[in-house]
Amino acid sequence: MKLLDDSLNVDSQVWDRLRNLEDRVIELFPKGDPSHDLLHLKRVLKTALFLATTEGGNLEILIPAVLLHDIVQVPKNSPERSSTSEMAALKASEILEPLGWSKDDIKKIAQAVLEHSYSRGLAATSVESAILQDSDRLDALGAIGLMRMVSCGTLMGTPFYEDSIDVFSKNTYEDRKYIIDHVFTKLIRLPELMNFQWSQAEARKRFEFMEHFLRQLGAETQQSPINSEKDATRYLS
Ligand SMILES: [Fe+2]
Ligand SMILES: [Fe+2]
Repeated sequence: MKLLDDSLNVDSQVWDRLRNLEDRVIELFPKGDPSHDLLHLKRVLKTALFLATTEGGNLEILIPAVLLHDIVQVPKNSPERSSTSEMAALKASEILEPLGWSKDDIKKIAQAVLEHSYSRGLAATSVESAILQDSDRLDALGAIGLMRMVSCGTLMGTPFYEDSIDVFSKNTYEDRKYIIDHVFTKLIRLPELMNFQWSQAEARKRFEFMEHFLRQLGAETQQSPINSEKDATRYLS
């Protein structure tokens, strides 16, 4: 799979360095989690490059930050989880140094990698970091966000939802216990955390789609017509 598009507008020296980085990322990227795989990188990169057309940012910083932001992955239930982005920032620097990036740029890339983490709650200190945050968080929403959320939860053996309780009327949400609770513990906050206007509008749109999905899910699981004998006959006739 290719991550970089040939139509990228960078000079040939930068292009060569990016190509080498792409090879290295493909070689080193952790395998086995469809919610954090090369397709995730490709989507985040596409959004990031789109945002860069209006918001600016240096592509020599932004592209490596996107490609390296998830280079270290720790299972959600591991005690080391909170330092994942720190480890990724360190590893990003190690990877970039022999590939010809300047010390100054490596520092900026590592900082953006560190700041992308939602759980760390850091504000973006550069435009590249703000773009990475928004692009990565948008990938947690909408149709792709649903697939990633379910895939992530099933890797840990978490049930989809809590039996007999409508998800919209629950008082407490625990995403370690029920996958769809993640919508209310984290995803619902993402639209207001977006750094740019376009990302915020897009995040709202994607969140609305998830709400729609949850209402349908509720109708199917909590008030399923198949449960009632009377209604079931309607489906049989
Ligand atoms: Fe991440
Ligand atoms: Fe990510």
